Amino acid sequence: MKTDMQKSNKNFIITIDGPSGAGKSTVSKKIAAQLNLSYIDTGAMYRCVAWAAREAGLDVTSESALPSLLQNLKIRFQAAGKNNLVFCNEQEVTSTIRSPEIDALASAVSSLACVRKALLPLQRAAAQHNHAIIDGRDAGTVIFPHADLKIYLDADLSTRARRRFAEQKLNAEVDLKSVTEAIANRDQADSSRSEAPLRKADDAIFIDTADLDIEGVSQRIIELYKARFNG
Ligand code: DC
Repeated sequence: MKTDMQKSNKNFIITIDGPSGAGKSTVSKKIAAQLNLSYIDTGAMYRCVAWAAREAGLDVTSESALPSLLQNLKIRFQAAGKNNLVFCNEQEVTSTIRSPEIDALASAVSSLACVRKALLPLQRAAAQHNHAIIDGRDAGTVIFPHADLKIYLDADLSTRARRRFAEQKLNAEVDLKSVTEAIANRDQADSSRSEAPLRKADDAIFIDTADLDIEGVSQRIIELYKARFNG
């Protein structure tokens, strides 16, 4: 059923930011399904750049190597049941871009100004025609500074590492210690970079997800949404 906000002409935007393993993507997908919103996974876009650069044998730490790749980059999402399929340059990369190697490469490319500049219009355009929930690191600070509802999810490092470990061990040989170290390194890189660092927007609502399950976090956000939009 459409809410009052959805019946009006204005697109509304919910942003969900926070570090790896805070629960952003699972919660965002659930809310998108429940509230009938588009789900925009901005992290997948950085992962596509990392994957395409690796496929092309480019040095992802070098700004000069990337402009032509960025110019020709095609990223497309396709809804498939509960999941979004991700296509990069018309190749289906949905699970390929979730490897530990791409985790690290995506973090590296996301610190480059040329990459952020190229992805920003794509991220904004993705929410142009629909009500949307945007999952990222800078969704509420840079991509949509005037979003209607901004959420910042976080949890302590060991909780986040255990969640990521449970996800990754389905696909790869991983151990909890290396997953914890990798997340700590990405936290450090994502929050200390000069370009759009990970930080809570001043007007974002902070939710600690350590002691809440997915249902609990989603319900909190849906309540906030209803309080804000439906009076
Ligand atoms: O959310 P994720 O783990 O799929 O993100 C992959 C990388 O991209 C991560 O290192 C942070 C970066 N990222 C970013 O810098 N800005 C965003 N809006 C989304 C992700």
